[in-house]
Amino acid sequence: MLEVNRIYHADAFELFPQIDDGSIDLAVCDGPYGITTNKWDRISNIQEFNLRLISIFAAKLKDGGALYLFGKPNCIDFIDYRPFLNLRAKIVWYQPSRLAQGRINYTNNYDIICYFIKGDRPKTYDLDAIRVSQLVELEHRLRCERVPSVTNGKYGKTKFNGDGKNPGDVWGDIKQLTYKSKELVNRDALNTIQKPEQLMERLVKASSTEGDLVLDPFAGVGTCSVVCRRLGRHFIGIERDSQFVEIANNRLQDVANDLAGRLF
Ligand SMILES: C[S@@+](CC[C@H](N)C(=O)[O-])C[C@H]1O[C@@H](n2cnc3c(N)ncnc32)[C@H](O)[C@@H]1O
Repeated sequence: MLEVNRIYHADAFELFPQIDDGSIDLAVCDGPYGITTNKWDRISNIQEFNLRLISIFAAKLKDGGALYLFGKPNCIDFIDYRPFLNLRAKIVWYQPSRLAQGRINYTNNYDIICYFIKGDRPKTYDLDAIRVSQLVELEHRLRCERVPSVTNGKYGKTKFNGDGKNPGDVWGDIKQLTYKSKELVNRDALNTIQKPEQLMERLVKASSTEGDLVLDPFAGVGTCSVVCRRLGRHFIGIERDSQFVEIANNRLQDVANDLAGRLF
């Protein structure tokens, strides 16, 4: 088994055999999308590539463990992932700031984050850790929402939680990084689509608990691993680009210093 809490400078496919089957609580797979000109992103058939990944993660996950697979809207079209994992949601990460320059079609302005679990029930789904603000008052709901539920056609009792609601499956509240974002480690990272920590945080908080093991197989500059370190999760990060590994390690060191600073 690979040592935990480090970023490996390696090709993920070469290291997967060294990860024990049934050992991973959560995999966050922000790998190739098959759309950019980055060398690592040139994948001839992204769906087949993703199916291969899904089959690998299915073996590595514990029962009830979760996989979040990032991609474009067609990233799992026409492939049969059902023998491996159970698709629970296709989260739309909406990016209204994206330049919309299309002239003969509607410009794509969202990514998909496919949420899979192994088996029928998630080990962890910590809704309380990821609630977002209610947009309307309870009074409005009680008066206006006498509508049948979508699933069974019956009227349900309005459930209102003052601490916030489920974030749903369209996320427009987390902004993509821009070249002005403080979090951005450098301009190259923008090209490889460094993700906001807030986005990774939502996935990690929802689908793991402290002490769990999270796999970050296409770690980039280490956003998911950094979040894991801060939230007390163990992680295995893998990244092929040595410059990114170095940046990720620096970020991890910053978190470690921060945590140590808080103790004193
Ligand atoms: C979309 S980026 C990940 C960004 C990351 N989530 C972050 O916030 O920094 C995908 C990364 O996967 C890496 N990559 C692509 N193929 C790989 C492979 N076979 N093994 C390891 N890393 C790979 C690329 O170098 C790139 O940094």
